[in-house]
Amino acid sequence: MLYSVVWKNNSVLLIDQTRLPNEYAVVEIHRSEDMAEAIRTMIVRGAPAIGVAAAYGMYLGAREIETSKREEFLQQLEKVAQLLRSTRPTAVNLFWAIGRMMQTAYETLGTIAEIQQTLLETAQTINAEDIQTCQAIGDHGLAALPKTPEKLTILTHCNTGALATAGYGTALGVVRSAWREGRLTRVFADETRPRLQGAKLTAWECVQEGIPVTVITDSMAAHCMKQGLIDAVIVGADRIAANGDTANKIGTYSLAIVAQKHNIPFFVAAPVSTIDFTLASGSLIPIEERHPSEIYQIGDTLLTPSGVEFYNPAFDVTPAELITAIITENGAFAPGDLIKAQKNSVL
Ligand code: MRU
Repeated sequence: MLYSVVWKNNSVLLIDQTRLPNEYAVVEIHRSEDMAEAIRTMIVRGAPAIGVAAAYGMYLGAREIETSKREEFLQQLEKVAQLLRSTRPTAVNLFWAIGRMMQTAYETLGTIAEIQQTLLETAQTINAEDIQTCQAIGDHGLAALPKTPEKLTILTHCNTGALATAGYGTALGVVRSAWREGRLTRVFADETRPRLQGAKLTAWECVQEGIPVTVITDSMAAHCMKQGLIDAVIVGADRIAANGDTANKIGTYSLAIVAQKHNIPFFVAAPVSTIDFTLASGSLIPIEERHPSEIYQIGDTLLTPSGVEFYNPAFDVTPAELITAIITENGAFAPGDLIKAQKNSVL
């Protein structure tokens, strides 16, 4: 199995996702500042993966704090949390993991060394739980897929695989499970402009596992659906509001609209930690805007004339009514029934 975030020899190893598929490189992170930079620059990316990375980032920051006073330790740890929180605004798993680490620090009594040790263990638990969670999402997703045809062609967007999580993946985890159970013919992967996570990362993961994959540009999805090439769409999520509205990689919303137009089921696969029950609807989800160079430049080549303006939102919000079901580790739920996902928590 592929792991994007690994704790080894007192440091965190990250697969550098900015270099795939051309180069498989591993980056070693020792300090919380370097972890913050790795999240900001998308060396590590994908909502669950940045949650796990941030949890380790909290421990790396905690072990740098030199004080024997509990209050001072907690104040300095709060600064580490602020730095990590400032990296990316949309994926709620980041804030969830940092919150869990802060809560652990507040609740752990004992020496500073003991708090630091408990923080490391909590980060490792978050890491291990995410792998289990993804495997459970795979099982529930398999059960939720349409029963006919027997072998499905699934369209997915962005990268939601082992690279985007602690392992196995969410939407791509369902695809993996479908492939292993003989229920999948092929995956169609949207290239996912502008960062190309589909063309670069999803395609790479599929090739590693021998899953047949066809890469299309984002604008081809409607045409493929009209031609009858797609049986189901499965995407991940960066933050799901309490009413089921779902923020995910830019382009997801238009995919959901065209899926509905063609009567194709549209699934969201995500852990319960991606549901933000504090937000009543998707309009309250903060949307990250990234640098325009992601649009106007590929490598060293400039694509546009000078004198034009750019708008580069990294995510959009798909309204709940376009979503067939939200697949979590606790089962698949109608978007309006999300509260049950929390209540039925089995992990
Ligand atoms: O900007 P990214 O690459 O971090 O965005 C990732 C996505 O939008 C994924 O679809 C989402 O985080 C789910 S990952 C399991």
